[in-house]
Amino acid sequence: MGVERLEEVRREFTAAIEAAGTDPEAVERVRVRFAGKRSGLLNELTAALRELPPEERRDYGRALNELKRFIAERLEAAKAAAQAGPAAGFAVDVTLPGRRPPRAGRHPVHLVRRRIESIFLRMGYTVESGPEVEDDWHNFEALNIPPDHPARDDQDTFYLPGGFLLRTHTSPVQARVMERQAPPIRIIVPGRVYRRDSDLRHSPMFHQVEGLLVDEGITFGHLKATLETFLHELFGDRVAVRFRPSYFPFTEPSAEVDISCIFCGGSGCGVCSGSGWIEILGSGMVDPRVFERVGVDAERYTGFAFGLGLDRVAMLLYGIPDLRLMFAGDARLTRQFS
Ligand code: FA5
Ligand code: MG
Repeated sequence: MGVERLEEVRREFTAAIEAAGTDPEAVERVRVRFAGKRSGLLNELTAALRELPPEERRDYGRALNELKRFIAERLEAAKAAAQAGPAAGFAVDVTLPGRRPPRAGRHPVHLVRRRIESIFLRMGYTVESGPEVEDDWHNFEALNIPPDHPARDDQDTFYLPGGFLLRTHTSPVQARVMERQAPPIRIIVPGRVYRRDSDLRHSPMFHQVEGLLVDEGITFGHLKATLETFLHELFGDRVAVRFRPSYFPFTEPSAEVDISCIFCGGSGCGVCSGSGWIEILGSGMVDPRVFERVGVDAERYTGFAFGLGLDRVAMLLYGIPDLRLMFAGDARLTRQFS
């Protein structure tokens, strides 16, 4: 007994009342244990006063009164908090700034699509779209891709029930637009396409931008000038552009277009596999057999078309090393583009 005991009880009480929180029953139990009329600890401590030697009573009495006041105040506060309910246990400071939810940026594919659209809109093109679930006619037949063509192989195409498929390129939209609209036609078609393909540079879903221009007197010179202008706008004047003979069933002649590697400037590096060039799109003059199939007068009109891989362009422009990163849905990627 003595002043030390009072200190001990103060610590016990503090721990108990904190543990009780805003639970009214727990607070009541603490009250009875410490300040209860009959068996409360404070009663005991008061009774102990008489047992003390006279010279210690003054200090003890003063400390005891202080402890009683302390316990009474804390009990009062705890009872008030318990009455107000648990929510009141949290003080709300309405002047604190709110917590911002993490914010992602625009997706790189979206950014590149917008840049490409704005370049072609300035050249007088309009933006078209078509269905991702296609029929055989528009995806293949109308584009002069015969039934035994390797592009139709099960390896490449996702077939759906009922003769439908997921379009393997944006070129079917060429056929759809030419079927319903007479030349002059000047469109670009950004959109999703699907192939059974997956590695560092291939994803089963990716994006293309199709371009189609049909009018009287259109030549390969128009195609070249258009694509050179476009690629210089997109990648800057310093990149070199080269046209390489190629083959597509729906264009004749056909060319694939490369740009000098924007990572090594053309000297050869890992990205361009040492060649100094990166393939960016396929293109060509619309094959007259396509015109016939979709009802465009092949005697009167000529045209050019192209299709580029949007995701590849985004990888090049933003230095993204793995195509699949772009479709992993990780905000850490898009946050870098806000
Ligand atoms: C075509 O898809 C043609 N329709 C392009 C075309 C249109 C030619 C109009 C002529 C006239 P190709 O399969 O090469 O062609 O694909 C075009 C571009 O899409 C490629 O250059 C490449 O950049 C991109 N690409 C192809 N496969 C994938 C893939 N699995 N993942 C990401 N990009 C791809
Ligand atoms: Mg190709």
